[in-house]
Formats: sequence, structure tokens, C-alpha cells
Amino acid sequence: MTNFIFRAPPIIRFGPGAALKVGEEARRLGAKKALLITDAFLASAGVIDPIRQELVAKGLEVAVFSEVNTEPTIDHVAGSLKLQKAQKSDLLVAVGGGSPIDVAKATSFLATNPGVIQDYMGLEKIPHNALPLIAVPTTAGTGSEATATTIITDVAANVKMLIISSRIMPQVALVDPNLTLGMPKGLTAATGLDALTHAIEAYVSKKAQPITDLLALAAIRVLVKNLPVAFHEPGNLEARSQTLLGALQAGLAFSNSSVALVHGMSRPIGALFHVPHGISNAALLGKVMDFSLPGDYARYAEVARAMGLPDLGEDQKTAQSGATRVSQLIAELEVPTLTALGVTKAKLEPVVAKMAEDALASGSPANNPRLATKEEIISLYQACL
Ligand SMILES: [Fe+2]
Repeated sequence: MTNFIFRAPPIIRFGPGAALKVGEEARRLGAKKALLITDAFLASAGVIDPIRQELVAKGLEVAVFSEVNTEPTIDHVAGSLKLQKAQKSDLLVAVGGGSPIDVAKATSFLATNPGVIQDYMGLEKIPHNALPLIAVPTTAGTGSEATATTIITDVAANVKMLIISSRIMPQVALVDPNLTLGMPKGLTAATGLDALTHAIEAYVSKKAQPITDLLALAAIRVLVKNLPVAFHEPGNLEARSQTLLGALQAGLAFSNSSVALVHGMSRPIGALFHVPHGISNAALLGKVMDFSLPGDYARYAEVARAMGLPDLGEDQKTAQSGATRVSQLIAELEVPTLTALGVTKAKLEPVVAKMAEDALASGSPANNPRLATKEEIISLYQACL
């Protein structure tokens, strides 16, 4: 029997209208002063207004930090923390894609722990409880509303800092498909493929366990079926709902079984070339799957079957059909290539060795079913252009 730990938010409320339960949940947590963390677009488009109104209606004082304008950085966290100290907020409410939620997680523990964010890189380094966090995702991708992980970019060092701690798990996740209806096609594709990558990597990870297996396969099933529908029919609430469910399931899975080589390699691309996370994952996923299949044909064959593909009699063939299906899906979703985003061979060559070192240092590649050497990671980066 395997030994495992499974962590999840104490409360997950899912479905249309779930976000409007924010006031009720804030009251249940005993909060009086909420800091709402979001991005400038969601603030100006009025997406946060009903959420703010619900908090005010339940008697909370609300401050807003809306300056998360890229993937989350140390500066965003410093700005958010400054406002938290000024307001003496006793609750954080994050509304947005992975970025505002990740900034809120970092703010939540820096509000109650000494030192600087760099002190807490790695696994379970946070000594004191964080402020409670209610996470309200507006994209179907990161699953950050249900993970104990935050990734904050140190721009000066060109490093994406990975912090994993049960203390930053949101206390409440309000997962509302109505909030994802406005996502443009490009964002739907990139975030949805991030979720699919979480699900596949969680299932083939060396740290996979019985509960994450169930969630990862369920996520693969709903994402492969519904992501193309959500992409082609942005107003289809059922497809949006299923895609968001898949992203949540994938988040719960990878937060407990870890991601693997794709994510390990994806972070240095994001840190150095500022490519959105979902797009760098999509660029890597097909080639990294091809490389990794021999490490565990049986699990990759199960991935293919979860995608709805027929069993071809031999795991190796079935597994390969899954990798091919993933590449077709990425093509169907019109994801831009890395080259189109300015990552050329000439720009890659001087930094590719450091990227491979950073990928290995993150620890994620160690969970891959087939271990990659630094030289193999360099070759994979080159092959993905
Ligand atoms: Fe991811």
C-alpha cells in the first residue's frame, strides 16, 4: 500500500453563481477587512464589482489591489503587501487567473511571517499560518484556487521562484463558470492546455497516488472533450463549466502528485522570454511526451484511453496515439509557436544551458517517468523551436 498525503481547500463551491457566495464565506471566516487582489483589466471591466458588493453587503471593509499586470513578480507582491499592512486586512480575496491568485498566496504568508519571499522558496518552508484566502478563478487553467503552490518571478534574477506549502492553500475556492465566459480564444486555449498538461503530468508523475490518479484521469476526460467546444463556442456555458471543472480537478491532482518535465522546462522559458505559461507548456508538451513515453507506456496508454482513444492492443501503440492526439489538439487550438513569440534559435543558444540547469534545479523533472539529463533537456528545447 502506498503512503500519501492529499491536501485540498476545506471548502470548494462550484457552479454558476458560486462567486457571489464570497460575502457569506468571508463572514464564516470571521473577517472584517478584505483586500481584493486582481488585475487591472478585471477591475476596469467591472468583473470584480459584484464580488466587492457582496463583501460590502456583508459588512466588510474592502480595499482593492489591481496592479497584477503580467505573470506575478516580486514587485506585485510588495505592492499588495503594502496595502495589506495599511488596511490591516484579515482576509485576502483573489479574483483572476493564476497571477492574482499567486500574488495573493505570497501576500498571505508574508503578512504573517518574517523575512523576504526568497527565504521561502521550495517545499514547506513557511513556519506560521498565513492570512485566510478566498480564491475566485476567472480562467480555466492553473487550478491555483485549489493548489498549495505559488510561482513568483524574480525579474532581476530571471528566475521563477516555486513555493509549495500547505499554509498557502486557499481556505475557500469559489469556482464559477460564469466568470470564464468572457475569456478570449487565445486565453481559453493557453489556459486550457496548461490544465491538460497538469492532468497528464500529475498522472504520469512518479509521485502519483490513488486520489490524484482519479482526478487526473477525470480531468483529461473532460478537458479533451470540452476544451475545443469552449474554444469554438466561447458562450457555451456547459463547455465552459466542464473545462473549469477539468482545470480544478487537474489542479487538485498536480498539487498533490507534482508536475514533471514539461513544467520544469516551461518555467525558464517564461522567466527569460516572458512567454505565457500555457503557451510554453503547449510548445513543449508533444515533444516531451514523445521523449517520456518509454518511461511508462502503461500510464501513457491510460492517458490515451482517458482521451477517448481506442485501445490498440499494445500499450506502446496506444500511448503513442495519445501523444499524437495532444499534438492535434494543440494545432486545433491555434496556439502560437515559440518562434512566433520571438524565441529564435539565435536567442535560445546562449542561454539554453542555464535554462536546462534551472529546469533540473526546480525539482519537477525528477518526477518524470523517464529522467532527462541536462544534454537531453537542451536537445528537447532545441527540438521545440
Ligand atoms: Fe501549469
